[in-house]
Amino acid sequence: MDNVRLTKRIEFSASHRYHNPQWDEARNRAVFGACNRPAGHGHNYLLDVTIRGAVSPDTGMVVNLFDLKQILLQVLMEFDHKHLNLDTPYFKNIIPTTENIASVLWSLLATRPEISTLESIRLYEEDDLYAEVNQDLIDQGAALITRGYHFSSAHRVSADRVGEAENQRLFGNCHSASLHGHNYDLSVTVGGPIDPESGMVTDITALDHLVQSHVLARFDARNLNEDELFSKAPSTGENLSRSIWGLLTGQVAAGRLEKIGISETPERLFEYCGERSEVEHQLFNK
Ligand code: NI
Repeated sequence: MDNVRLTKRIEFSASHRYHNPQWDEARNRAVFGACNRPAGHGHNYLLDVTIRGAVSPDTGMVVNLFDLKQILLQVLMEFDHKHLNLDTPYFKNIIPTTENIASVLWSLLATRPEISTLESIRLYEEDDLYAEVNQDLIDQGAALITRGYHFSSAHRVSADRVGEAENQRLFGNCHSASLHGHNYDLSVTVGGPIDPESGMVTDITALDHLVQSHVLARFDARNLNEDELFSKAPSTGENLSRSIWGLLTGQVAAGRLEKIGISETPERLFEYCGERSEVEHQLFNK
């Protein structure tokens, strides 16, 4: 099928509060922190809707983007500038976490056949936190959650197994005897079933602590070449993403590590998803 995917981004603002009425106040505060405060708080959400469809031979389009925007605005009317807990019917029994909001938006958009086939939706609560769902994930009551982190490290890229001339050719300035540095952007994606009690795939605060202690404390404001991980392997983006996978995999409190992304500069993104097969990547209930 000669399908094309396209992604439309749209913004909305909403307030919410995380509170599980089955839990006492102390547990709500412990699990949800400031998100449990009775006053609630708000976000500017960014919604990326990816659809897939055949290209019309008459218009050259999958869907008219103007029409798509009108549909998204209609669906988001219930959410934009609303309190998600109080003003919408969707969060009476589930917590309005990013994962659950994305799932609710999926269920609403999936009932609109005029937008073609819904491929995936990604909902940003902030630059460094987004949830993603697609049909496979929805069928499993699951979602992906991605958290962004930042660290700055010095390094000199050098491969011991090849000679000096080849190092110069391969790495150029990055092989300069003087160290240089990068502001690295790290993204950590965890997938799994959405816990009905917390509304989360994984405890984000616990993930933050894990990444802080295992990755940021180790690499931030350090020289990567002095780390034993890079004593025998060049500190390339490829090796850094695989090394961070190794430091975090199996350690996530709930859900499963799905992907590590490393940006050395805004022009380069390296992603590593481990050695699981494609099938294993999609199934959380195994
Ligand atoms: Ni919030």
